Amino acid sequence: MTSNILVIGGTGKTGRKVVEGLQKQQQNVRIGSRTNDPAFEWNHPATWPKALAGMDKVYISYYPDLAVPGALEAIQGLTAAAKAAGVKKLVLLSGKGEREAERCEEVVANSGLDYTLVRASWFNQNFSESFLLEPILAGHVALPMPEAEIPFVDTGDIAAVAVEALLHDQHNGKTYEITGPRTLTFQQVVQEIAAGIGKDINFQVVTQEEYNKMMESAGVPADYIWLFDYLFREVLGNPDNQVVTNDVEKVLGRPATDFKEYIEVTARTGVWNQPIPQSI
Ligand SMILES: NC(=O)c1ccc[n+]([C@@H]2O[C@H](COP(=O)([O-])OP(=O)(O)OC[C@H]3O[C@@H](n4cnc5c(N)ncnc54)[C@H](OP(=O)(O)O)[C@@H]3O)[C@@H](O)[C@H]2O)c1
Repeated sequence: MTSNILVIGGTGKTGRKVVEGLQKQQQNVRIGSRTNDPAFEWNHPATWPKALAGMDKVYISYYPDLAVPGALEAIQGLTAAAKAAGVKKLVLLSGKGEREAERCEEVVANSGLDYTLVRASWFNQNFSESFLLEPILAGHVALPMPEAEIPFVDTGDIAAVAVEALLHDQHNGKTYEITGPRTLTFQQVVQEIAAGIGKDINFQVVTQEEYNKMMESAGVPADYIWLFDYLFREVLGNPDNQVVTNDVEKVLGRPATDFKEYIEVTARTGVWNQPIPQSI
């Protein structure tokens, strides 16, 4: 059966792959982003009804993070607008072990619409499509939380789970906790990427305070420094988030993608051999 599906964040790390997966299954997809027509802008609720018009289902990836102030109100507003537009099902991308995100999950779960919650661990792609790309390119990665054992997950797996959830009713009312197949420390990540691409990458442990100061010196806005501080301390520092789950396999019937495979696929794109971009 063909559905009309709005993919909010449909040009982003997970959303782009959700769009591809749905199109492969002959679904009618509309991208929800500021650059699409009709545009979807989280900060302008007036844009939401047009983006939601005629849609049966919605994939929600909130930008920048469900933990930030204002996210709860945005999810409340979007859920109400989706209901008013006749949407039948919501699939929410959430963060594993983020207490703030759980309040947003509750809004979706109590909406009266069909829903699936996809709680993801930290993404592999943070090292190739996000804030950790630049240090990899510079050959020097300085990070706090050296003891954190992180079950990094691939955005391809998150998207594949989201596509399944959007298409099949057996996932209604379910919460999936999506991780990769093993944990890695930041130092192990850097060692594996360095070995995978044959480049020297130095790893330095810094305290959270030093890391915050580094961000400040680099001109990172204060609210983003707050967010990173929260994500490092609260999310990575929580032992409950250092556990591997088998939810990817449960939903997809195949094991989660290993970090080594992510490195091989990413290395082939050349992203780790480019000059350092002006801004990432
Ligand atoms: N990174 C992680 O390790 C991690 C782990 C767990 C959960 N998460 C969750 O993942 C979510 C982010 O998903 P993602 O990484 O797939 O997205 P992303 O790569 O951060 O992509 C951003 C997407 O949102 C759109 N966007 C940016 N600003 C927007 C705005 N003001 N209004 C409307 N659209 C906007 C962008 O399109 P345009 O620029 O064209 O508008 C793009 O499609 C967050 O909620 C975060 O909590 C992340």
